[in-house]
Amino acid sequence: MAKGSALASIQISLVLLLAIFVCSEADLLGPVCCCRGKETNITVYLQVFTGGPNTTSVAVAGAPGMPRTPSNFGTIIVNDAKMTQGISNNSPTIGRAQGIYIASSRDGSSSQGIFSLLFSNFQYNGSTLEFQGPGYNLQVGGTAREIPIVGGTQTFRLARGYGFFQTVLQNPAQNKTVIRGDITVIQYPGGGKV
Ligand SMILES: *[C@@H]1O[C@H](CO)[C@@H](O)[C@H](O)[C@H]1NC(C)=O
Ligand SMILES: *[C@@H]1O[C@H](CO)[C@@H](O)[C@H](O)[C@H]1NC(C)=O
Ligand SMILES: *[C@@H]1O[C@H](CO)[C@@H](O)[C@H](O)[C@H]1NC(C)=O
Ligand SMILES: *[C@@H]1O[C@H](CO)[C@@H](O)[C@H](O)[C@H]1NC(C)=O
Repeated sequence: MAKGSALASIQISLVLLLAIFVCSEADLLGPVCCCRGKETNITVYLQVFTGGPNTTSVAVAGAPGMPRTPSNFGTIIVNDAKMTQGISNNSPTIGRAQGIYIASSRDGSSSQGIFSLLFSNFQYNGSTLEFQGPGYNLQVGGTAREIPIVGGTQTFRLARGYGFFQTVLQNPAQNKTVIRGDITVIQYPGGGKV
């Protein structure tokens, strides 16, 4: 009896050891494992101003002889937009969205977005999420574009995930465009504040 239960506990220990080994090996491989990172959904709003004294978008390059518009192949626009919690420009600021937009298709149908979300709110202060992929659709009501997360810093070290970015408001008289980002991020242990 005592011998049997000793054997059983050795077997259990072996199974546990194996599980720990498999999980640490698979830690970064994703959803199959017990050690999967924590999934968090974050919604942000980007307050974009394309003209006027407080512009957040500057076209810095374009094809020779062509206007530097977002749909003209070759245009490169640098962005630094306020990131807010809600859709209103007066909603609490939670950080900034900084990066470049490249009109990367000859027919104007798609673009490249390479940008960071730099958080300054209490919860994620100092952490960043890095995005790279096909850029957003500038039309209100247009399809949301999915852009992958390629990394992050501090809380978001080793982050994986994606964001759906969609133009939700446009006010040409104010040169104003608001883009909503619905972000799903998987954070791994080892992040600065996990
Ligand atoms: C996050 O959002 C996705 C897509 O809407 C959903 O499938 C998932 O369950 C959400 N995760 C959490 C932790 O709320
Ligand atoms: C909108 O942008 C145009 C072009 O830069 C500028 O002339 C105009 O004053 C801006 N309007 C506002 C309200 O900022
Ligand atoms: C530009 O920003 C300044 C400083 O925040 C503000 O006082 C001014 O009202 C803004 N102008 C416009 C047209 O939004
Ligand atoms: C974020 O961190 C900076 C630098 O450490 C600090 O000055 C600021 O007060 C912090 N903001 C919040 C909301 O915690």
